[in-house]
Amino acid sequence: MQAFNDLADFGNDELADLLTLAGRLERQPEPDALRGKVLSLLFLSPSLRTLASFQAAMTRLGGGSFVISPDMSIHGLESRPGIVMDGSAAEHIREAVPVIASYGDAIGIRAFAERKDLESDMAETEFAALTELIDTPYINMESAMNHPCQNLADWKTLDDLGIPANGGKFVLSWAYHPKALPLAVPASTLYMAARRGMDVTVLRPDGFGLPTPLMDKARDAAEAAGGSVRESEDRHEAMEGAHVIYAKSWSATDCYGDRLGDQALRKELVDWCVDDPWFDDAQEDCRFMHCLPVRRGVVVADRVLDGPRSVVIQEARNRMLAQMAVLHRMLGTPA
Ligand code: CP
Repeated sequence: MQAFNDLADFGNDELADLLTLAGRLERQPEPDALRGKVLSLLFLSPSLRTLASFQAAMTRLGGGSFVISPDMSIHGLESRPGIVMDGSAAEHIREAVPVIASYGDAIGIRAFAERKDLESDMAETEFAALTELIDTPYINMESAMNHPCQNLADWKTLDDLGIPANGGKFVLSWAYHPKALPLAVPASTLYMAARRGMDVTVLRPDGFGLPTPLMDKARDAAEAAGGSVRESEDRHEAMEGAHVIYAKSWSATDCYGDRLGDQALRKELVDWCVDDPWFDDAQEDCRFMHCLPVRRGVVVADRVLDGPRSVVIQEARNRMLAQMAVLHRMLGTPA
């Protein structure tokens, strides 16, 4: 495997293999599988789970890893092409990224969306500018529109919980947050649930619809897998019969990059905080999912997050197991 960037790059057999391997590594550890291998981890955006779970995954497989991020005592990084570097930044990514990559057998890169221009973010301009600088295998640790490690972990969590693929109802719901957040998790989670063959409802207020190409990509995947994709603004109708609600806040797509416009829309929506009444018409054991970090009392009420519906810790642990499977296939000896 040369790249783990988007679940859409993989066939059904390849995804099934990764999920099976993640389960096997959970039951049967392989502490020597990646002996002597090194994973470089470049974090241009903050993290807790991704940072810790990749290091844990490499250690559990017998390899090693190192982390570079701008808040360490590295030289200030410049990313603009063609710039005269007479400001504070002392090093350009054009040298820094290949150097970091050269110390490892593969590299993980995290670079969140700039959230200025939707077209540019949809085209993954910034992430592509980074991966063009390297020739080692790479893993997308969250870019503008993708978070494949989260998606694989969430797929495993749904399987672990026995939530049906075909016939399972998955509600991807927008939730309130004081800031405009990237589209990577909702975009790629939508695709994951559709690709799994679920009946997916994107529940979101007016102004927050996911871009048409993302909806079309998910609809095509759902159709091929025996599922469906629809949108709703009606919480009660959307939650009817739901097996799982996956909450996430994201930017207002009607005014993407316009901070004041986004704030004007979202300030009316503070009641989009997932709470017990949301589940009135859902399946009795409807689960609550979130990729974390999550703001308590803002995105979700404590009683939901602390209650039996919540599977957020399982999701986070499955990050490590899913990534172990990806690393095994990327760096391990072929079977
Ligand atoms: N879910 C997730 O990617 O968490 P971090 O941002 O903490 O890595």
